[in-house]
Amino acid sequence: MRRIVVVNQKGGCGKTTTAINLASGLALQGRRVLLLDLDPQGHAGLGLGLHTDTIADTIHEVLTGDVSVARAIVHLRENLDIVPSNVVLSGFEQRLAGVPQREYVLARCLLPLQNDYDYLIIDCSPSLGLLTFNALICADEAIIPVDCSAFSLQALRKLFETMALIQEQTGHVLASVILPTNIDLRTTFGRDTVATLTRTFPTQCLPTCIRTSTRLREATQQGKAIVDFDRHCAAAQDYGLLTGAVLKKEARLQSKKSRKKLFTLAAAGTKSVQIAGDFNGWRPEPLRLQECPEGQVWRKSVALVPGSYQYKYLVDGQWLPDPANATTVENSFGSINSLITV
Ligand SMILES: Nc1ncnc2c1ncn2[C@@H]1O[C@H](COP(=O)(O)OP(=O)(O)OP(=O)(O)O)[C@@H](O)[C@H]1O
Ligand SMILES: [Mg+2]
Repeated sequence: MRRIVVVNQKGGCGKTTTAINLASGLALQGRRVLLLDLDPQGHAGLGLGLHTDTIADTIHEVLTGDVSVARAIVHLRENLDIVPSNVVLSGFEQRLAGVPQREYVLARCLLPLQNDYDYLIIDCSPSLGLLTFNALICADEAIIPVDCSAFSLQALRKLFETMALIQEQTGHVLASVILPTNIDLRTTFGRDTVATLTRTFPTQCLPTCIRTSTRLREATQQGKAIVDFDRHCAAAQDYGLLTGAVLKKEARLQSKKSRKKLFTLAAAGTKSVQIAGDFNGWRPEPLRLQECPEGQVWRKSVALVPGSYQYKYLVDGQWLPDPANATTVENSFGSINSLITV
C-alpha cells in the first residue's frame, strides 16, 4: 500500500480538494483506495457527499481504540472507501499527548489494512500538531498543496523543517512534492507564483498545477469529485494529470521493490542453457557461461518482485527442473517445475 499524506498547515490551500480528487481519480483507474480524514472539520467526507456529523464510528474512535479501523470504513464508490472524521476529533490531540509512543498511534491502527488497499490518502487539518505528526510518520510520500498566498512560502519552509526534524528523530524519510493549487494562470501573479515555487524548489515542485476553477467549488459543494461533476473542465484535467503523475511513479517503486535473484547451473557437458518461468512469460532467455571458482557455470540474474514463481531450465533443448532447488510443483504437462519464493 502506498501511503500519501496531503499536508500543509496553512488553511484553505486545497488539501481536502486534492485528497478527494486524487483518491477518486486513482479509484477510477482501478486502484483500491482508502481516503482517511484526519481533520476535525470532516471536509473529506463532506466533499464526497457524506454527512459526517452523524457518524458514530470515525477516525477518533479508531485512534482511541474503541473500534477497529475496519469498523470505521465507509464505502463510497467502486474502489473508494473512507475513514471519516468529525468535530469529535478536535479534543483528541491533548489526550494523545499523554500516550506512550504517541507519534505512532495512527500507523499502528492502520496496520491491519496493509494488504487491503493500493493507496492510502490522508487529508490533514491546517495545523502541525500531533495528529499531523502521526500522519507524517505513517506516510511514505507527501503532497503539499500550495496556493498563491503571501504566507505560503513561509508555511512551506516550516513544514520542511518539521519533516527534517522527524527524519532526524526517527529516521523516517518522506518523499515530498509541491502542488501549486488554485492558480489563475491568466494573471501575471499566478504565473509568477508557479515560477517562484519552481525556482525555489526545483526538484520538489510538480510540473503540473491546479488552476483556479469555480467548477471545483461547485463540485465540492455538491459533494462530488470533479470527474463526476464536470469531467471536461480545466480542474478535472489538472487533477487527471496529478493522478497520472502519481501512477507513473508506481512502476518505479515496483522496480525498486524487486530483488535480484541469481540463477546458476553447473555447465559440465552442456552447450546451451536457457531459463523460462512465470517471471518472463515462459519465454526462454539465455544464461551466460561464466568462469567461477568452482569451474564453468551458467548464470543469469533476474529482478523479481516479491511473490512465488515457477520456472525451469531448457538445457540443450531439454526441459529440466533446477537441480539446486528442492522445492517443486507438478505442472499441467504431468512433469514438475521448480518453485521459488521471493
Ligand atoms: N483550484 C481551485 N479553484 C477554486 N477553488 C478552489 C480550488 N481548490 C480549492 N478551492 C476551494 O478553496 C476552498 C478551500 O479548499 P480546501 O478545503 O480544499 O482547502 P484545505 O487546505 O483543505 O482547507 P483546510 O486547511 O481548512 O482543511 C474550498 O472552498 C475549495 O472549494
Ligand atoms: Mg481541508
